[in-house]
Amino acid sequence: MAETVTLTDNRNGKNYTFDILEATKGQDVIDIRTLFKETGMFTYDPGFTSTASCSSSITFIDGGKGELRYRGYAIEDLALNKSYLEVCYLLLNGELPTFDELKSYDYELRKRAYVHEGLKNLFYSFPDNAHPMAMMSSAVSALSAFYSEHIKMDRAEDIKIMRRRLLAKVPTLAAFAYRRSLGIPFIYPDLERSFTENFLYMMHAYPGQHLKIPDVQVRALDTIFTLHADHEQNASTTVVRSVASTGAHPYAAITAGINALWGRAHGGANESVIAQLEYIGSVDRVDEFIARTKDPEDDFRLMGFGHRVYKNFDPRAKILKKLLDELKHELGVDSELLNIAEKIERVALNDDYFISRHLYPNIDFYSGLILTALKIPKSMFTIIFVIGRTAGWLAQWIEFMQDSEKKIARPRQRYIGSTEKSI
Ligand code: CMC
Repeated sequence: MAETVTLTDNRNGKNYTFDILEATKGQDVIDIRTLFKETGMFTYDPGFTSTASCSSSITFIDGGKGELRYRGYAIEDLALNKSYLEVCYLLLNGELPTFDELKSYDYELRKRAYVHEGLKNLFYSFPDNAHPMAMMSSAVSALSAFYSEHIKMDRAEDIKIMRRRLLAKVPTLAAFAYRRSLGIPFIYPDLERSFTENFLYMMHAYPGQHLKIPDVQVRALDTIFTLHADHEQNASTTVVRSVASTGAHPYAAITAGINALWGRAHGGANESVIAQLEYIGSVDRVDEFIARTKDPEDDFRLMGFGHRVYKNFDPRAKILKKLLDELKHELGVDSELLNIAEKIERVALNDDYFISRHLYPNIDFYSGLILTALKIPKSMFTIIFVIGRTAGWLAQWIEFMQDSEKKIARPRQRYIGSTEKSI
């Protein structure tokens, strides 16, 4: 028999019983789908702090333990031993690829990295100072015009091609957005290069230049992509699922995810972290900014700190910090910014304000230092997040579409406006 919980309405003593649905790992959930029908009331949970919006078998997080797993594999194992492409395959297919599967997947993605020549015109129509994220979300949305057969996703084969197209073309569009922001010629994908090397090549090469991208740079960025690849029902993924729930096509859903990611509280934090470190400017000023963070009259927040789910540490930040320590000399990391970041971390981790609120450095705290060393400008940081997260958004989109219990996302509200008025 299913375990249950009982809710008592103290106004009339009525009891209502709800099933508990077991999770394979982590929190079980109370199935309240009949709550409104039975009680005539809704639940109230702004920001969904206690709400599971779906069942999922893609990513597991234990925020208390600082545990993150994709399809059961610990993020530490994947970051150390597998490439981002293998992680994409894992997220999208449920299992890691064999040697032959990886080879053909890699080949498929390489040949799909080119974009329709007409799409280039879109980039020319943006003003010089357009933010690369604005170009990126428009370009991904525009893919639906160039691959319109994907607007109806009735055939499994179309879905397979769509997800490969998106994964393969997103880095090309990202590099085009960057090059348009500088007004320099676009560099086409090079079939001879791996996924991550190709992106760095399209960012940094000049036409005709056989630019060698150092392996250490490829390894660092590939790890960053892996760490960003999925994070269960975060804000942008929730948006992707919500848009998918209306029946809109996958390009619309992923574009909505990109736009949700842009915010400072989410993926936009990585750009703000470096801007903030630059603004602080010196280790001597760290205490002043820590004091501002704690001042209730000041709305200053330390960017790259805190997380809705991680209340002990963010395992992705730990991996990045280790990577940064290992590679800082080879990559040429800015030592002044690193010193400021390390001092902030040291002071914050020993300060009661941060300890009592469980505020620790998150993934965005250290990623920007590595990206800066890779000569990627701040304005491109959230796009790097987009490239990594596209795999997760696609996996979540597929899972949603295959879910027999899916419904249009349509929350209700607690109305607190005027009662009836007449003119
Ligand atoms: N600096 C200073 N105080 C903070 C911070 C911070 N970065 N984050 C949270 N707090 C305080 C907040 O003021 C509140 O204090 P009080 O209880 O006195 O009102 C308390 O901690 C709880 O904060 P919250 O905003 O209710 O927590 P949340 O779970 O709703 O928000 C968050 C999580 C990530 C939006 C928030 O911590 C934040 O704004 N962090 C800075 C932005 C950032 O780094 N975002 C990247 C998140 S990781 C990448 C990703 O997944 O997108």
